[in-house]
Amino acid sequence: MRYLVTGGAGFIGSNFIRYIFNKYGDAAQVVNLDKLTYAGIRENLAEYEGAANYRFQQGDIANAEDVARAYEGVDGSGVDVVVNFAAETHVDRSLMEAGTFIETDVHGVLVLLEEARKHAPKLKRFIQISTDEVYGSIDTGSFKETDPLNPRNPYSASKAGGDRMAYAYAQTYGLPVIVTRASNNFGPWQYPEKLIPLFVTNAIDDLPLPLYGDGRNVRDWLYVEDHCAAIDFLIEHGTNSETYNIGGGNERENREITQRILERTGKPDTLIKRVADRQGHDRRYSIDMTKLESLGFRCETNFDEALEKTIRWYSENESWWRAIKERSAEFKAYYEKQYGTR
Ligand code: NAD
Ligand code: TYD
Repeated sequence: MRYLVTGGAGFIGSNFIRYIFNKYGDAAQVVNLDKLTYAGIRENLAEYEGAANYRFQQGDIANAEDVARAYEGVDGSGVDVVVNFAAETHVDRSLMEAGTFIETDVHGVLVLLEEARKHAPKLKRFIQISTDEVYGSIDTGSFKETDPLNPRNPYSASKAGGDRMAYAYAQTYGLPVIVTRASNNFGPWQYPEKLIPLFVTNAIDDLPLPLYGDGRNVRDWLYVEDHCAAIDFLIEHGTNSETYNIGGGNERENREITQRILERTGKPDTLIKRVADRQGHDRRYSIDMTKLESLGFRCETNFDEALEKTIRWYSENESWWRAIKERSAEFKAYYEKQYGTR
């Protein structure tokens, strides 16, 4: 199988490429098209650089020339499957500046789809990685794929745009599109601006853990390897034009996640710092997984073990996150702006 993976230098994309190479070895060819924004780290996949079945291409999904080149594949023979992970992904950053979210998460998807039209009908799948955040917040019960979208922040609104643009291209032009809506991922190589890696690395350094509001917002945590397995499963078994929720089945309040991180790192509760809430903070995300499970897919990871494994990864890979937290001027400026006076 010949894959075009976009955003493969980021958290989930790099885990996905590693998953594909571990599972299929030389039978897989992967082009990794990534702009290398602040969140893109090419070295995440250093072990594959130079391999005959891997090509890294620095480029923008919103740039038609970059995209056309990426669709040529590793060896010029084209691609069978596109998996679009490339996105601006952090809600807090979308509250500071939303324009780049529209440019990548909406317009970028359009450019990828336009190029896909040129490669139909040879293209087998176009997987648009959307998010459970497009449904908005739900106090009780869980969202099904047929529920209306109600995004409530600039990140989720832009993701909803890309989500429905992909669907529109399936309906209008018959492209083989599948849309996935996953819940909050965690695991190795997650950029340390997101809740779990930020709190784990701050705890290691005895820095405050800035918990927003009352800490009782609920997220459904999905181990990144389960997410990768679900995408691989859908490439094989999914139906074109359909949308699939991918949840971990692990709904937890933020304060519980925080507590566990402190316990596992052996740090005191006094590190918790209650700070002003996020504007428009979605209270609870919850998705119904019945549709994907009815095809025969199950997440295999136990949440407690996965969290422990993740914490161990950050303890054993300090050089990876210290390069960001201590040496990236961009990260330092973001951290100061986000938390400095909070
Ligand atoms: P990330 O921020 O770690 O990585 C995003 C990657 O996309 C980076 O490597 C970045 O350089 C690249 N990128 C950004 N703009 C680009 C552009 N214009 N052209 C090419 N590359 C570009 O994100 P992630 O957490 O790995 O998320 C991957 C995808 O999964 C996103 O689409 C996100 O919306 C979706 N998602 C994430 C989660 C989560 O919990 N992290 C949950 C559900 C869905
Ligand atoms: P985050 O990892 O940003 O993911 P998302 O907003 O996409 O769900 O945040 C997860 C939860 O943790 C969310 O309810 C906001 C909260 N949070 C904090 O309390 N403090 C923080 O410093 C961050 C980054 C998040």
